[in-house]
Amino acid sequence: MSDLNQEIKRRRTFAIVSHPDAGKTTLTEKLLLFGGAIHVAGAVKSNKIKKTATSDWMEIEKQRGISVATSVMAFDYSDHKINILDTPGHQDFAEDTFRTLTAVDSVIIVIDTAKGVEAQTRKLMEVCRMRKTPVIVFINKMDRDGKDPFDLLDEIEEELKINVRPLSWPIDMGQRFKGVYNIFEEKLDLYTPSKQLVTESIAFKDIYNPELENHIGAPLAKKLREDIELIEGVYPEFDVNTYLQGDIAPVFFGSALNNFGVKELLDCFIQIAPSPRPVQAMERVVVPEEENFTGFIFKIHANMDPNHRSCIAFVKICSGRFERNANYKHVRYNKMMRFSSPTAFMAQKKETVDEAFAGDIIGLPDTGNFKIGDTLTAGEELHFKGLPSFSPEMFKYIENADPMKAKQLNKGIEQLMDEGVAQLFTNQFNGRKIIGTVGQLQFEVIQYRLLHEYGAQCKWDPISLYKACWIESDNAAMLENFKKRKSQYMALDKEGRDVYLADSSYVLTMAQQDFPDIKFHFTSEF
Ligand code: G4P
Repeated sequence: MSDLNQEIKRRRTFAIVSHPDAGKTTLTEKLLLFGGAIHVAGAVKSNKIKKTATSDWMEIEKQRGISVATSVMAFDYSDHKINILDTPGHQDFAEDTFRTLTAVDSVIIVIDTAKGVEAQTRKLMEVCRMRKTPVIVFINKMDRDGKDPFDLLDEIEEELKINVRPLSWPIDMGQRFKGVYNIFEEKLDLYTPSKQLVTESIAFKDIYNPELENHIGAPLAKKLREDIELIEGVYPEFDVNTYLQGDIAPVFFGSALNNFGVKELLDCFIQIAPSPRPVQAMERVVVPEEENFTGFIFKIHANMDPNHRSCIAFVKICSGRFERNANYKHVRYNKMMRFSSPTAFMAQKKETVDEAFAGDIIGLPDTGNFKIGDTLTAGEELHFKGLPSFSPEMFKYIENADPMKAKQLNKGIEQLMDEGVAQLFTNQFNGRKIIGTVGQLQFEVIQYRLLHEYGAQCKWDPISLYKACWIESDNAAMLENFKKRKSQYMALDKEGRDVYLADSSYVLTMAQQDFPDIKFHFTSEF
């Protein structure tokens, strides 16, 4: 079916990620402007959560509520269907972001020119590297003084452990910022600070053309030529396949706020970024063009209204065409289900759709049937592999504070864990439940939701742990011995896998030395 193929080929599903404040929201908004999806700047509600708001997490949840609408932003641009997947800005919800990365085919990383590579960027890039996701880097805020661009590129290579290749190059920066030389399109893009809409672009194939002096002056022309010579000498020629394999990241410079360099980024993006890619399922590789529908749940968004305990399960379509009211198999339940009101997200609107294609994201209203990682198919027994869980950073015992509501508490914990709010470990020694999170906020979210959605009360008891390690070994005797020796620190994760909860980095190092045949993994899939 050629029209299925065409639909798939024109799709570009990606996420923009950054450390908070680097400019992700601003860039997203400018991309939407180009796509005609919005018409005025400021129309995109930032779902950014200010660091200062950490004590007021209800406010955060409200903002997360808003972010349902902006979870996926789809628009058409130049014959392409663009799906931008939004990710939460706050680092306490980093796991959400990691999971969203399982549903994209490529990523744009935004870096603040003055701040360079920051903590969150590092971690996000780790996930991209693991999945070999193609990455484009946008260095933002060139209208401000920042780091030397060559130093920045070195920093990115070193800190993000990826080779880079500039496809545009800045001409000065800050107040003296003149624009960029667009290496990819061989154009000179001139910057006017007051101009909010489009870049003045001049075709400029030969940077040795003396015309260059007329545009940017002799000293900057000289510097630009030297810089470009250096780039051509030091960095390999740009090769799309190397980018698609996730081995090299093209780099663009610009200023999202001033809408500078954004269209150029988008134009290059639609040319080089991948259309939906094949996805590895447990049983086989699934190719997007296959006629039969397959997809998986990568995110579940709970409704914060206690009177409507319904969620939206977000499905990434991996192959074929999804049709409304068709029968699809919920593989974990081994049950056929029909979906009468799947939603798609065009720009800012959520609307019911009759069909969607590989690469698209649809929302399915859900009342607790789905958990993250669930697979839907046209009938095939297939399991997509989810993103591994990372070792949490914080741990607490969860205890029942209302003996009459033990059942509700257990149900609530189970469902919240299925949604991926946090991770549950059960201590094998004393049977106590331990919740592991990325940040303090998640504990508050869990406590509040247990009370308001399940009528259960929990309290937290402190536990001092350093890391959760999934362990395995070919040496069965050593594994048994280890588990015996560490019995107080052995737990099971939700899937029943053995997890060693190390209480300090020292103890962990000692354990690694004493039990050389045991592998200690900091993610749940290895
Ligand atoms: P985030 O989603 O990555 O957290 O960042 P966001 O886009 O919200 O941008 C963070 C701040 O950086 C915002 O300022 C935004 O206006 C500013 N910014 C984004 N791009 C550029 C740029 O190219 N140049 C300059 N100079 N600033 C930029 P704010 O004051 O925190 O918010 P607002 O009150 O302006 O919205």
